[in-house]
Amino acid sequence: MNPTTPPLVSGGLPVLGHALEMMRSREDLFRRGHAEHGDIFSIKLGPQYAAVVSGAEYNKIVYTQTDRSLNMQEAYTFLKASIGEVLFTANKETYYNQRPVLQEVFRRERMTQYVQAMNIEVQRWLDGLGQSGEMDVTAEMLRLTQFVAGRALIGPDYERELGAEFWALYGDISRSLDPLLPPHWPLPKFKRRDRAKAAIRKVFQGLIDARRQHPERYDDLITTLLQTPLKDGSFMDDSTIVSIFTGLLFAGHETTAGQAAWLVTLLLQHPETLSRVQAELDAALKAGEALDQEKINQLVYISWAIDETTRIRPSADLQMRTVEEPLSMGSYQLPRGWRVIVNAANSHFLPDVFTDPQRFDPLRWSPERGEGKNPFSIVGFGGGVHKCTGMNFAKNEMAVITALLFQQFELKLRSPEVHIVYGNGANHPSPAWVTYYRKAAV
Ligand code: HEM
Repeated sequence: MNPTTPPLVSGGLPVLGHALEMMRSREDLFRRGHAEHGDIFSIKLGPQYAAVVSGAEYNKIVYTQTDRSLNMQEAYTFLKASIGEVLFTANKETYYNQRPVLQEVFRRERMTQYVQAMNIEVQRWLDGLGQSGEMDVTAEMLRLTQFVAGRALIGPDYERELGAEFWALYGDISRSLDPLLPPHWPLPKFKRRDRAKAAIRKVFQGLIDARRQHPERYDDLITTLLQTPLKDGSFMDDSTIVSIFTGLLFAGHETTAGQAAWLVTLLLQHPETLSRVQAELDAALKAGEALDQEKINQLVYISWAIDETTRIRPSADLQMRTVEEPLSMGSYQLPRGWRVIVNAANSHFLPDVFTDPQRFDPLRWSPERGEGKNPFSIVGFGGGVHKCTGMNFAKNEMAVITALLFQQFELKLRSPEVHIVYGNGANHPSPAWVTYYRKAAV
């Protein structure tokens, strides 16, 4: 190996290198690498070398070199097989051509409608819980984020329009994600993925056809996308719109579900934090009051709890790039063809950035403490040009869920231990069973 490349972490097997450990326990692998070599080291995934970096300085290089020396599309080939060639799974030129559409989806005025959709769906879910019962918060958050994504991105008639099978098909796609195996091998999971993709495309095509035939009946995102020009002035064809929607629902719902489930779980595991949340809600939110952006902005402590959850239990714990042009990282040189991996396992737990990093401590985000002020210290929503465009959507959704749930219900965590289930798309908590009681006064 070239002596100027980052040092290799211990424990690699002949031929496979660290591939098995990466699949089974990447967090342990990354933490060991950090203990051995610090903020930059390398691993070997079969024949592929990858530099694993952490800390604001290196993270910043990765995010600012993306689309320059670093390529996103190639590193996410496994995603392309699932959602199609769109946004960051497409080439740079296509991505920048599609960016105006992405900006349109997340325009500030649209957020008002999205937050209304969140209120409606969260309240509908709470109404369906009855007076008391038991639920698995992890499973419920997945359901709830699907309802929210449906209403916000498809429209009020989303249940009929998407059909009963839709989210099960999505499940087949997420279960097929695999960054190591070639995505076109004839494996059962890849066959299920391809069937699901075809069925989802059919559903979306139906939605597009309906809007093309009767544009006067619709005032929703799909109609807007049909009418929003790309940077080069042309309009997206149906197949690209389908891929954008598949990509948005994909990027948006499992990540948010995992993060929201951790937020509720961590609050229940930390009663002192929960009482602060409760005090904030009692002061800021009247019974039956819906949340708008202004109200959400007043829930400052909840926003810190959301940031702290993203730090300590990120649902997107790593991001990958491929080196397109040789790149200097500190005193090392990354050769063309290497991968680079930004990871939360190390970045989010650096003791010189975060005091007592293993502790769930929302107050670290307060202006007085101001930890993690450098935006590149935290990687849960990425960074740079490709930083998550749905971040405010996700944070608002988590705020609405937390506010309405804890305003209207008392919950007790029953699962004695809740651990991280690592996925190839998003991470989430293991089942988190709670008993709940509707509060009398609300
Ligand atoms: C807690 C929830 C979420 C998390 C943790 C999350 C995380 C991320 C991360 C880490 C990236 C950057 C990937 C990289 O640099 O390799 C990203 C990008 C993206 N996310 Fe999210 N996301 C969340 C919610 C959402 C939602 C709700 C939407 C849409 C409704 C969304 C849409 C996107 C899009 C479109 C991109 C690509 C941006 C670009 O390439 O310019 N995300 N997300």
